[in-house]
Amino acid sequence: MVSMVADEKPRQLSKKAACNSHGQDSSYFLGWEEYEKNPYDPVANPGGIIQMGLAENQLSFDLLEAWLEANPEALGLRRGGASVFRELALFQDYHGMPAFKNALARFMSEQRGFRVAFDPSNIVLTAGATSANEALVFCLADHGDAFLIPTPYYPGFDRDLKWRTGAEIVPVHCTSANGFRVTRAALDDAYRRAQKRRLRVKGVLITNPSNPLGTTSARADLELLVDFVADKGIHLVSDEIYSGTAFAEPGFVSVLEVVAARGGAAAADGLSERVHVVYSLSKDLGLPGFRVGAIYSSNAAVVSAATKMSSFGLVSSQTQHLLASLLGDRDFTRRYIAENTRRIKERRDQLAEGLRAIGIEVLEGNAGLFCWVRMGSLMRSQSFEGEMELWKKVVFEVGLNISPGSSCHCREPGWFRVCFANMSAKTLDVALQRLAAFAEANGKGAPARRGLAGGPARTMSCPVARFSWANRLTPGSADRKAER
Ligand SMILES: Cc1ncc(COP(=O)(O)O)c(C=O)c1O
Repeated sequence: MVSMVADEKPRQLSKKAACNSHGQDSSYFLGWEEYEKNPYDPVANPGGIIQMGLAENQLSFDLLEAWLEANPEALGLRRGGASVFRELALFQDYHGMPAFKNALARFMSEQRGFRVAFDPSNIVLTAGATSANEALVFCLADHGDAFLIPTPYYPGFDRDLKWRTGAEIVPVHCTSANGFRVTRAALDDAYRRAQKRRLRVKGVLITNPSNPLGTTSARADLELLVDFVADKGIHLVSDEIYSGTAFAEPGFVSVLEVVAARGGAAAADGLSERVHVVYSLSKDLGLPGFRVGAIYSSNAAVVSAATKMSSFGLVSSQTQHLLASLLGDRDFTRRYIAENTRRIKERRDQLAEGLRAIGIEVLEGNAGLFCWVRMGSLMRSQSFEGEMELWKKVVFEVGLNISPGSSCHCREPGWFRVCFANMSAKTLDVALQRLAAFAEANGKGAPARRGLAGGPARTMSCPVARFSWANRLTPGSADRKAER
């Protein structure tokens, strides 16, 4: 049936489906599309684009594969030698499998050095953190309500939090002056701006460790955030999807530790029921394809509503069965966490040192699967136009898909997020060599390093002007404004 109102053209799709408020029309996602058209392969396509815009963790697959080899029952849908096929085929309880929730609760606690205990009955399983974040917004906000989010922030939030819920994001502007740490003044400013727009602020949402900064939140900053939401009587959502990637001091501190330290006071004013954590196995275990996420909340009403909503994005029973065994193996999780973080640090050091050798500034980081870097020295103008111009060159001439800071709503032009854990060390060296050659050709930065592995820098194969999306991203367009 075609919906039609008098004097209106027939509309085939809903407004939601037809409008472009999905947030995917951003250089963050468009860069992925360009990569898909011409992906780098050391043998089959050595001139292709290297994907450095994807925060994937491929560093520890061998550990997971070795575990699978040694534990065939988990994948063979067996338990104690007997088939559990029929049990799993029929399982459809949206509360999730107790064995898996217990193992996940313990794993989340282990990621936090056992300083926080997770009650499995406060966990809601979801199809990844994407689904967890959206479900939380559906639980906490009505259409037109707002969440404050410190910038720069994960570009996917423009889709995940806003599109289907109708909620709004009001950026909390953070700057490089203090390493992009959140301040009370910035929070107050965002709150005031939301009020001016007549938006009801329902909460603050942070990522800790931060995507895209690659830093953990300092305990003092978490205290400041908790004080702010306590003052305003609003919620605090902490997306801790990268909690297991923290590889150096100061380590990862969960907001739940800060709330727990306030003891009875937090419970008395309802604060502990307004602080919620989002988690997923997409980054720490490198399993984004498995779609395993979780909401953790001490708010019974939120847990109850989110559990019902999870019907729209459950975790399949065979995935729960497999991961209950994997995460239930304490010896494995202990070794995995230690080795995975060691490898993340090693690969990050490789990227950071390589970039610094080229003369590119790298924000000091201690977590995440990416570096936050300033490339203003390679820009012709210190503006968002200059940033977009450089980004196009880096994608098409250098052959690297990195993410512009403007897609993360960074207020300062010249910042980019560069991922490192979704490729081999050799490919990372190729990427660094390409960038070094580009910097040298442009007379910028330190002299290019010689002797790195890999082929020559990719030459421009397609003029930017031929790409309509690239034109859409040119200065002054509506899309560009929406990205800031
Ligand atoms: C901060 C943050 N939240 C959520 C997600 C989505 O994760 P998932 O694959 O679990 O849906 C990502 C993925 O990059 C992320 O960086």
